[in-house]
Amino acid sequence: MPPLKVLVILGSVRRGRKSERVATFVMNRLAGNEAVSAELVDLRAVDFPIMEERLGRIDPPPPGVAELGAAIQSADALIIVSPEYNHGYPGVLKNALDYFYAQYKRTPVALVTVSDGGHGGVNAWAQLVTVFAQLGAIVLPQTIAVSNVDKSFAEDGTPLEPAYVKRTDGMITELVWLARRLNKAEWRG
Ligand SMILES: Cc1cc2nc3c(=O)[nH]c(=O)nc-3n(C[C@H](O)[C@H](O)[C@H](O)COP(=O)(O)O)c2cc1C
Repeated sequence: MPPLKVLVILGSVRRGRKSERVATFVMNRLAGNEAVSAELVDLRAVDFPIMEERLGRIDPPPPGVAELGAAIQSADALIIVSPEYNHGYPGVLKNALDYFYAQYKRTPVALVTVSDGGHGGVNAWAQLVTVFAQLGAIVLPQTIAVSNVDKSFAEDGTPLEPAYVKRTDGMITELVWLARRLNKAEWRG
């Protein structure tokens, strides 16, 4: 069975961002799982302009938009790593998500939220669930809510709270299960 394509989108572009630690950790856990092949999309590197229209309705699309659309389209599953800003998720992530629609169809999505406080970004999680439902994606019930990110992850992504390893591996197992059953490869263009 070929490995499933998992696209990890890092939704923080803030200077000194700490969600990057969590994205690195998630990528490391994926790298150790032979059922998947993972790719990271760092929105800082993509550097999208403010969205004026969706892909397919703007010609030519801004640089990087067609490439990300193709990556989402061909992904068997997505993992979103998002910080919480003002009880929501960052505008830069919404801006990037809104470029696309059909590409998310029947795509399993796992949500990983990050906070330097004690609530693990639960408000960002709630918003992401709503948005991905509208986009036609299928949100995995298993979720990772990282609280106190400074104390939970070292700068290089090493988990300082061992529980995150088991939790994340469990989430990946469920994501693989769901992606296999949804079998996006069978019907996508
Ligand atoms: C504009 C802004 C608003 C924030 N609002 C919240 C918030 O509502 N709730 C929360 O738990 N953390 C909040 N934080 C702190 C983030 O949880 C913190 O920056 C954390 O490290 C994750 O985001 P990062 O990738 O930007 O570092 C906020 C941070 C910024 C920059």
